[in-house]
Amino acid sequence: MTIKAVRGTRDLLPPETALWNRVEQTAREVFALYNFSEIRTPIFEDTQLFARGVGEATDIVSKEMYTWEDRARAQSEKAQSLTLRPENTAGVVRAYIEHRLWEGPGLQKLYYIGAQFRRERPQKGRYRQFYQIGAEVIGPPTAGSESPVRDAEVLQMLVMLLNRLEIKDWTLQLNSVGSPSSRPAFNDALRKALNGVVDRMCVDCQRRAVTNPLRVFDCKVPEDQPIIEKLPRISGFLDEADRKHFDQVQEILRATGVPFLINDRLVRGLDYYTRTAFEFTQGSLGAQNALLGGGRYDGLSEALGGPRAPGIGFAIGEDRFVMALAPTSGTHVPELVPQAYVAPLGEGMNVAAAKLASELRSAGLRVEFGDESFRLKKSFETAEKLGIQKVIIIGEDETKSGEYSVKDLKTGEQQKMCISEIVERNRRR
Ligand code: HAM
Repeated sequence: MTIKAVRGTRDLLPPETALWNRVEQTAREVFALYNFSEIRTPIFEDTQLFARGVGEATDIVSKEMYTWEDRARAQSEKAQSLTLRPENTAGVVRAYIEHRLWEGPGLQKLYYIGAQFRRERPQKGRYRQFYQIGAEVIGPPTAGSESPVRDAEVLQMLVMLLNRLEIKDWTLQLNSVGSPSSRPAFNDALRKALNGVVDRMCVDCQRRAVTNPLRVFDCKVPEDQPIIEKLPRISGFLDEADRKHFDQVQEILRATGVPFLINDRLVRGLDYYTRTAFEFTQGSLGAQNALLGGGRYDGLSEALGGPRAPGIGFAIGEDRFVMALAPTSGTHVPELVPQAYVAPLGEGMNVAAAKLASELRSAGLRVEFGDESFRLKKSFETAEKLGIQKVIIIGEDETKSGEYSVKDLKTGEQQKMCISEIVERNRRR
């Protein structure tokens, strides 16, 4: 039996990988304009990081993590529970604390690109290994980390990225989930409202009603939606400071021309969020319509044992960005076809062909080359299949004279040229 890629994982193959590179390259360029630098954190972390950071009651932690007991190295040591990262914010904040990044000047503005892992039911746009491009702004309140200008800044940055990638028809959905001070009153109201109805809801909601009633809003079960529709919303429970913060975010967005819709049901599936929460959705993606999501997490650093360090960030679903690009992307894929094909003519020519190919590559040309066992006809056919226009023929005579026959497969023309001429002409092309 052949071995296949594991369910929910997939191979990314050329030419599609060129699109992935374009998304990543464009993101790096845009992030640099906003003064973000790259961080790379490990792919697995102590399970506690996600339990405490993302929250035990979330679907991610309670059902979707790839967790294992790592073997103890010595008898005296306890086995450690490790988890493949289901998201990257907790890892970034752990690194912020571990490396005392708050001692640096100003705010930390960090971005990451990498694989994340969740044991979800795979479907179009939803994988068990998927890729995120994310960014986080975090720092002490004295550096302005709580300011609504930061919320608006990351949203503007995202709009610039979407525009540069020509991803259209997106909707920015915005909400405020309040700060911990406004939560108890909301939780009480929610529990009361759930009291009479929760036994008609799905088992997950019955669990959520006990552990963390806010998570009821994560429910996707269609039969539960009419009940959820009637539940109180966090927007009715925001305190003065929360409301002012949210108003200012909206004011800056309006002033800078970033369109948004308020969605007071949006609570995001992770427990660390405070105040601003957002998602960019796109209808054409189907059921998995969230291109990206993010929000504020003013208490996360403290929850992980660090200093007070409010933050805000987002993670783009790169798989979904590429899907959103794909229909129009044909013209955007960079032309990666080699510029020349070196065809060794007859036996004993492999070394000379390899040497010529190497010289041309050093001069900056994209080159492919064939094998001496190929007849010339087969070399031409191969070059044609690869979409290469120029074939450089190399035989005994050519190695002696330093002049090569260059055949243009499009025009059928054949000309003698030395290496510098070949390089020069291709540069001009
Ligand atoms: P999230 O909403 O869990 O947030 O994920 C962000 C994005 O990752 C989603 O909007 C979606 O595009 C993509 N995504 C999530 N799960 C999958 C999957 N199974 N397959 C494909 N794509 C997926 C976070 O992860 C937060 N860490 C974002 C954040 C950063 N908040 C603050 N800072």
